[in-house]
Amino acid sequence: MSLSKKLRSAITEAMEHHGGPRAAMLESLRMIQQEHGWVCDAHLEEAAALLGVTTAEMEDVATFYSLIFRQPVGEKVILLCDGASCYLNGAEDVRDAVMKRLGIGFGQTTPDGKYTLINICCVGGCDHAPAGVIGRNRKLVGPLTPDTIDQILGEDAK
Ligand code: FES
Repeated sequence: MSLSKKLRSAITEAMEHHGGPRAAMLESLRMIQQEHGWVCDAHLEEAAALLGVTTAEMEDVATFYSLIFRQPVGEKVILLCDGASCYLNGAEDVRDAVMKRLGIGFGQTTPDGKYTLINICCVGGCDHAPAGVIGRNRKLVGPLTPDTIDQILGEDAK
């Protein structure tokens, strides 16, 4: 499936707004993901062609940022921090509890398509360690404990 006319237009505008094609690459990927939930090969290639950069350059940017998803994800993406502050404040216990509850590991999606679990290094919430980020609105949650993971999973994960 091709990019929508609206998205193609937004990518062109981003190029003008950000001062050139390279500066607009990340924003283009973000907009594609916002609309489709993730960035497939076809959309990445189409955006690269629109910007006038190579597919490899676009892929470099896409794979550098762990918040750009290159494969389908669940309805809710849970990013659990495994950075130093979170590690020192019990992130491993939280990780184990979430994995046990959902029955998946990092990089996996539950069979019902509701949750995808991803590890990330520092979500910028060290003062809330151990912390995570959940959902399309990227809500920061923490400090998490194995007893409070419902805060990020919601009632439907029980
Ligand atoms: S180390 Fe976890 S939020 Fe910074």
